Amino acid sequence: MAEKVLELKHVNAFYKEGKQKKQVLEDISFTLYEGEIAGLVGESGSGKSTLCKCVLGLLKEYEGEITHYTKRPQMVFQDPFGSLNPKKTIGWILEEPLKVQGGYSKEERRKRAEKMLVQVHLPKEFYRRYPGELSGGQRQRVSIALALITGTKFILADEPLSALDVTVQAQMIELLKELQKKEKICYLFVSHDLDVVSMLCSRVLFLKDRKVEEYADI
Ligand SMILES: Nc1ncnc2c1ncn2[C@@H]1O[C@H](COP(=O)(O)OP(=O)(O)OP(=O)(O)O)[C@@H](O)[C@H]1O
Ligand SMILES: [Mg+2]
Repeated sequence: MAEKVLELKHVNAFYKEGKQKKQVLEDISFTLYEGEIAGLVGESGSGKSTLCKCVLGLLKEYEGEITHYTKRPQMVFQDPFGSLNPKKTIGWILEEPLKVQGGYSKEERRKRAEKMLVQVHLPKEFYRRYPGELSGGQRQRVSIALALITGTKFILADEPLSALDVTVQAQMIELLKELQKKEKICYLFVSHDLDVVSMLCSRVLFLKDRKVEEYADI
């Protein structure tokens, strides 16, 4: 039996509207297991990003239980252009979480950053480049390397492929699957695109009218 990564039990989430509370998630319960790729699907406004915020601990107005069994998840965002600091090199960007975490020498940080570049199939030489010198797909690879660099096995991705063209999307899907198999990475993958979800995910959580309409294998 695979290990649990995340468990939600009866989660309700709210936003403040003036003095009122507006409920956007109602009685959400599900479990994610090691090495699993789960899709999170639903109409615009159904609460997908809100659910991500709850899981990341960014939304304090919630009720219910959210249990993390592993290191906290790292986020990969939709916009590969806005999410990397344009003034810093890829090497600097990748090493930042290691500096924050501490315990690595300069040399060890560089080695680890280069290893992550190789793992997402980018040349080591990209270490010295700036985000502005990379394509959208290449930047999304850097975002994935950045999410994984401290050893996290759980990625939350909010529409990470929707800014990329179809060919690049297909390459990214291959990469995400490969990381799942080789490194047992688990994803909660938000998407509007059911084709992408069916190619990538083994289970899908459908959100509708604030609730989980279905959580099914596909
Ligand atoms: N900061 C906020 N304050 C108040 N209401 C919010 C806030 N953020 C989102 N909402 C509302 O909560 C509901 C769910 O929004 P959410 O962003 O989670 O939807 P989503 O499923 O991610 O949509 P999309 O597919 O368009 O990204 C919507 O009705 C939205 O208007
Ligand atoms: Mg959203």
